[in-house]
Amino acid sequence: MNKDFTLLLQIIGSYASSGEERSEILYNTCKLLKDKVYHYDWVGFYVLDGQGSKLLLETYYGKPTEHNAISIGKGVCGQVAENKKLKTVQDIRQEKNYIACSLDVQSEIVVPILKDGKFVAEIDIDSHSPAPFTIDDEEFLTSLCQKLSVLF
Ligand code: SME
Repeated sequence: MNKDFTLLLQIIGSYASSGEERSEILYNTCKLLKDKVYHYDWVGFYVLDGQGSKLLLETYYGKPTEHNAISIGKGVCGQVAENKKLKTVQDIRQEKNYIACSLDVQSEIVVPILKDGKFVAEIDIDSHSPAPFTIDDEEFLTSLCQKLSVLF
C-alpha cells in the first residue's frame, strides 16, 4: 500500500479509538479522505436502519445529495449491502443498477463495514475521475472499514 494510505490509516485508527461520537468520527474520516485523496470527490457513510430494510446516510463530506435513504439491492450502495462485498464501478455509465447523484460523477467505490460477519454500514466514494480506483484503494478502504467496525 502507498505511504499516504498507510498514514491515513494510522490517523483514522486514532479517530476510531478517540472516544468521540460515532457520527463525529465518521464525519472527520469523510473530510480527511476527500481533502487528502485527489480522486475522492464525495465521501459518505450509509448505515443499515433498525429494520434492516434500508440504508440511511449518516454523514458525508462533499456536495449535498438527495439520497438520504436507499433500499437494499438498489443502486451500487444497495447491492453492496445485499452482497456484503466491495464493489468498484470504474465507469458508472456501464452500471445498470445505479442511482445517479451528480453529473460530475464518473466512477464509484463502495466498501462494506461488517460486524461479526454481518453487514452494518458502508463507505461510499464518488469520483469525478474516469477509472481512478486500483487494488491499493480497495485494500486501503477494506482496512479502513475494519478499523471503523468497532464503532458499530
Ligand atoms: N450512486 C449511489 C447512490 C449514492 S450517491 O453516490 C451519494 C448508488 O448507486 O447507490
